Amino acid sequence: MTPHEREQGTRTRPDPLGDVRIGQVRSRTSLKWRFHPPDVLPLWVAEMDVLLAAPVAAALHDAVTRGDTGYAHGDDLARAFAGFARRRWGWEVDVARTALVPDVMTGVVEALRLVSGPGAAVVVNTPVYPPFRAFAERSGRRVVDVPLTAAGRLDLPALEAAYARERARGEVVHLLCSPQNPTGTVHTAAELTALAELAAARGVRVVADEVHAPLADAAAGFAPYLAHDPTGLGTALTSASKGWNLAGVPAALLLAGPAAAGDLARLPEEAGHGVAHLGVLAHAAAFRAGGEWLDGLLDGLARRRALLDALLAEHLPAVRRAPSRATYLAWLDCRDLGLGDDPARVLLERGRVALSAGHEFGPAGRGFARLNLATGEDVLTEAVRRMAAALDG
Ligand SMILES: Cc1ncc(COP(=O)(O)O)c(C=O)c1O
Repeated sequence: MTPHEREQGTRTRPDPLGDVRIGQVRSRTSLKWRFHPPDVLPLWVAEMDVLLAAPVAAALHDAVTRGDTGYAHGDDLARAFAGFARRRWGWEVDVARTALVPDVMTGVVEALRLVSGPGAAVVVNTPVYPPFRAFAERSGRRVVDVPLTAAGRLDLPALEAAYARERARGEVVHLLCSPQNPTGTVHTAAELTALAELAAARGVRVVADEVHAPLADAAAGFAPYLAHDPTGLGTALTSASKGWNLAGVPAALLLAGPAAAGDLARLPEEAGHGVAHLGVLAHAAAFRAGGEWLDGLLDGLARRRALLDALLAEHLPAVRRAPSRATYLAWLDCRDLGLGDDPARVLLERGRVALSAGHEFGPAGRGFARLNLATGEDVLTEAVRRMAAALDG
């Protein structure tokens, strides 16, 4: 029984990851499928091998049929998310303290601009989603790394020291990845509250990227940052793009705590200029009516994690992986394979299987690779077979 089944009952739900055959997804034209030559099995970029949840597909079909393809308007996405947040996490979102932004990373940059000026330090916790560094630097901020502990947790003493050190130099923002891509770490409510208090004591602002939150299974106990920030100073980003595979129809929400409402009010009109109306419709449908589909996905992901662990134990026992309960990403410690700092490169060249290069997630990722579990069991099995064959070759 998966943790989610224990929590939600033992009813078997359809597995969206079991619906798609490799022949179907191979014809896709997105980054995952077109970046590498066709003989490569792609388990890298964060796209899922699923068909759309029926309510999401219906919302898109309906809009296209009616030619409802104009500009985005209104708070329907925020209201849909508020309902989802209440049902899933018991979190009351104040729709008045939300704003539509085109996608998560655009929203992250807008949030950095609202709470800091150019030259500010942006604290990140590696290993972390590589664009955090790229976007922060491109917006004229300095990135300061406070790595996760060896156990993959937030290092609160090191954060406190970094806050103090960097505050002596100027403004500081902590860009938090919650849950963490690539490790799947779910930060606990206690950790988040402690972090919020440390940050407020030092005058550090927190921006929490929660795009992977719907992908935390029920037993993981995902804690929304704004719900556990007693200072009310936090801001957060959310989106249905990861949970329902909607990167191609993007939309996101920027949310502010009560004490950050004034910051949100300064969001310039042009920050919402590129919001895609189709994205808003699709994301609202996902949050409002995609819960059943998501539950099936979470069950399927729990099975993929177990399958991956069994396959690694059988074929690649030297590869280690900390247990995870969020995201569809598996963070593989390949340091004992003897493949150097970039095992993904060797596995691609010799095994024709594409994983994400661990070193791109920060220095702590040297010798690691990130595997995308959101695929069929046959593809996952073949991927591990190819990885093992690469070592023989
Ligand atoms: C932590 C994190 N933030 C943001 C994104 C990208 O979101 P968007 O495409 O909406 O900018 C991703 C994509 O994988 C991610 O993992």
